[in-house]
Amino acid sequence: MSVGTMGSEGLRNAMVDRLAADHAAKGLTLRPEVEAAMRAVPRELFTPGLPLEQAYENEAVLKKLRGEEAVSSVSAPFLIAEMLGQAADALGSLAGRHALEIGSGGYNASLLRELVGPSGSVTTVDIDPEVTDRAAACLAAAGYNDVTVVCADAEHPIAPARRYDLIIVTAGAWDIPPAWRDQLTDGGVLVVPLRTFGITKSWALRRRGDRLVSESSRQCGFVSVQGDGAQQVRYVDIADGVHLRLDEGQQIDPTVLDGLLAHPREEAWAGASLPPRTVLIDLNLWLATRLTREAGEFVVLTAQKTAIESGIVAPSWQFGTPATLHDGTFAYRSALRWTDRRFDLGAYAHGAEAAAAAGRMVEHMRAWVDAGGPPPVLHVLPTHAPDGDLPDGAVLDKRHSRLVLAFTSKEKGTP
Ligand SMILES: C[S@@+](CC[C@H](N)C(=O)[O-])C[C@H]1O[C@@H](n2cnc3c(N)ncnc32)[C@H](O)[C@@H]1O
Repeated sequence: MSVGTMGSEGLRNAMVDRLAADHAAKGLTLRPEVEAAMRAVPRELFTPGLPLEQAYENEAVLKKLRGEEAVSSVSAPFLIAEMLGQAADALGSLAGRHALEIGSGGYNASLLRELVGPSGSVTTVDIDPEVTDRAAACLAAAGYNDVTVVCADAEHPIAPARRYDLIIVTAGAWDIPPAWRDQLTDGGVLVVPLRTFGITKSWALRRRGDRLVSESSRQCGFVSVQGDGAQQVRYVDIADGVHLRLDEGQQIDPTVLDGLLAHPREEAWAGASLPPRTVLIDLNLWLATRLTREAGEFVVLTAQKTAIESGIVAPSWQFGTPATLHDGTFAYRSALRWTDRRFDLGAYAHGAEAAAAAGRMVEHMRAWVDAGGPPPVLHVLPTHAPDGDLPDGAVLDKRHSRLVLAFTSKEKGTP
């Protein structure tokens, strides 16, 4: 049967088959209960107006733009499946659990409803009344009448006050407001796309008293949190189609930006020989923590396809490459170098200290490979936690929390 002649169920099953294969390719397992929920919920009921085939593509469906920025969407199925998998891995089973979803749309809430079963509950909250109205209508049309839909800024506690076993955030956050921790049961789990060092990952964090500690993380991208927790990301152009992405409050000296990429390029290579599909997202955070400590100015490079094709830059990833800007020298992680189906990791640099900067970046990459590609662990502590209480790692002080990123116990003493 071709896609054009498949009905809802056929398309849905084909989408879930692709998700299972996508998980396997990433070394993950699509949990049976998540798979069953995704085979049960008709996604087209949450994307009204969209052709049936498009409802089953593995992509986010854009619902609302503000200017050029997306502020609301029905999330991509692969991301939803990975985040529900993180939640279920951490909690063992979601059956009978009480879940709060932050950021509504209806689709994820209905999957959660399937997963928590009759003895559990699902509440979904969105800051935008248009979204909650639409989500409530879609949920009712799909027969999920027992999901509680609330319109509020989830930066603050949701009324009526209660605790949840699981809070799953479906908008990109910059910090963890106290309300998210306080509304969790002790031992409960927060799954949240969180930006640290300019890099967003979905973290599954377990509450232990007034702290949260991560149990897994996944690469992801999301529309940003709005309301009182909103943080602006800024883009600064450094050449035609080449930009630096800066977090709010991050300053760089504009006088060093002009003609930065016009300086001759130096390069350095780690001498690694890695197999295809080696997951490198954790390398980026490893570099971020080390380069921040060493070079001070860690930035994220983004580039338009045209700039890459014309050879102005060759970043490791068009949408977010680790980079440093230090004493007028710019260095970034380069695209991979392939030989006989294996690849090496490299760095490119421009400016007075280019050769040294590229060499330093590559040394950190080599250290990550030599350490076996360790994953990061994120600790979230309250702002009042004294320095002496912090675990070893790279510290990021945010408005509501002290975040510490560490890389395995082998690394103790070397944040
Ligand atoms: C990617 S969409 C949610 C997708 C949805 N979970 C689904 O099932 O597909 C992100 C949503 O987060 C909402 N949002 C952003 N900031 C928020 C906040 N502070 N409180 C509650 N909702 C928020 C946006 O209005 C947007 O509708």
